[in-house]
Order: sequence, then C-alpha cells, then structure tokens
Amino acid sequence: GNGTALTGKRVVITAGPTREPIDPVRYISNHSSGKMGYALANAARAAGAHVVLISGPVTLPAPAGVEVRRVLTAEDMLREASGAVDEGCDLFIATAAVADYRPEKCAGDKIKKSSDTMSLSLVRNPDTLATIAGRTDAPFTVGFAAETTDVERYATDKMQRKKLNMIVANDVAAPGLGFNSENNAVTVFWPDGHESIGPDSKTNIARRLVAMIGDHLNQQDPS
Ligand code: PMT
Repeated sequence: GNGTALTGKRVVITAGPTREPIDPVRYISNHSSGKMGYALANAARAAGAHVVLISGPVTLPAPAGVEVRRVLTAEDMLREASGAVDEGCDLFIATAAVADYRPEKCAGDKIKKSSDTMSLSLVRNPDTLATIAGRTDAPFTVGFAAETTDVERYATDKMQRKKLNMIVANDVAAPGLGFNSENNAVTVFWPDGHESIGPDSKTNIARRLVAMIGDHLNQQDPS
C-alpha cells in the first residue's frame, strides 16, 4: 500500500453502534466502539481521500481532516449516509454495527415496572448498506460482516445479496478481537478472491484495507 491509493476520491464511512430508544431513559444498542471505522477514516484520509464519517454514539475524538456527522438511530444513519452519497461519493464503506430492529414505538414517559415479565415489540430497521449499494448511481461499496460461525459462507452470501464490490468478514467469536477491542482479524472477499489480514491493531488493519480497496477501485475505475 502507499499514501496515494485514494487520491481525490470522495469516501463515506459509517462507524459505531446505533441507539434505538425504548423510552426517554432506555435504549437498545451493542458493543461497537467505533474504533474500526475511525481507523479506516484516518487511513483513507492519509491515502488522499476526502472523508465523511457518519458516526453513531462513540467516545472517540473526530479524526483530523475528516468531516464527522453524528447520528443516533439506524433511521438517522440511513438519512445521513444517503445525503452524503448524494453530495458525491466514489467509495462507501459500512463498518457500523446497526441495530437490525428498533422498538415499534418509543414510550413518551419512562416505562414503570409492574408485572414479572414484559415484552417489547420490535420492527425491522432500514439497511443503509443495501440501500446505498442498490442505487443506480451506487459508489464502489464495501460492507463488513460480523459473524461467529461459517464466516466465509455468510460473508460471501451477504456480498451477493447486498450487491457489494467487497466484504470484510470479521470473526467476532475470537476473544480480544472485533467489538470494542484494540485489535482485529479479518478476511476480505471480492467476487474472485480473498485475503486475510491480522490479527493486528485496527490502525494497521485499516491501512492494509485502504490499500487493498484502492487497488480494486482503481482497477475498476482508473482515473
Ligand atoms: O466498532 P468496533 O468496536 O471497532 O468494532 C468493529 C466491528 C466489529 C463493529 C466492525 O468491524 C464490524 O464487523 N462491523 C459490522 C457489524 C455488523 O453488525 O455487521 P452485520 O453483519 O450486522 O451487517 C452487515 C453489513 O451491513 C455491515 O457493513 C453493516 O454496517 C451493514 N448494515 C447492517 C444493518 C443495517 N440496518 N444497515 C447496515 O448498513
């Protein structure tokens, strides 16, 4: 890889978790820290890209030279990502861990405890990655797949179903890797090949990923 893999490219990256409100004081979320997505934003910037980072709620500082747009819910993420792609986008990378479901309604007041059990009705959230990849003016699109079993099969299925150019399979079953850790290990798949990276720091993995993505993007669209 080199420092010019993405010179002049417009890149939109999603990162972090989403937060789906249950009532004014509670929500559904997950353990994503945003580290992988922020590391990719830094690496893409260092490789010469203009980067817009659509970030769920995380505690990380904004990377230097990157435009950060903050969101809370999956619906916010779709709206902001679509808006950023409308402004012009050569490469879209989805690292966010988006809640697949949200509470059907957010209670106006704090829910009181009463019976021993309670149930919450959930509805499907929109899929930002599939929506962007399905556009007629879709950018080169890279998804992530957090899997615990059959990583290769689920990842390649997801790449075909969501019409992605590449997918980064993240084995989140291994201790110390994946969600909310400093290190990661991934296998990148494209339609006729694959390559594993790591275990290594998310910073180093992001640099390698940006170089690889840049190679594939520039092969497809040399400009
Ligand atoms: O944030 P960190 O702590 O650094 O952890 C990084 C990570 C483990 C979260 C990251 O590397 C990762 O694997 N992200 C994908 C997590 C995930 O939940 O994947 P998924 O299999 O549910 O979704 C597949 C793809 O569709 C992802 O690119 C996701 O961003 C996208 N998606 C999913 C659902 C949805 N409603 N909208 C989406 O855009």
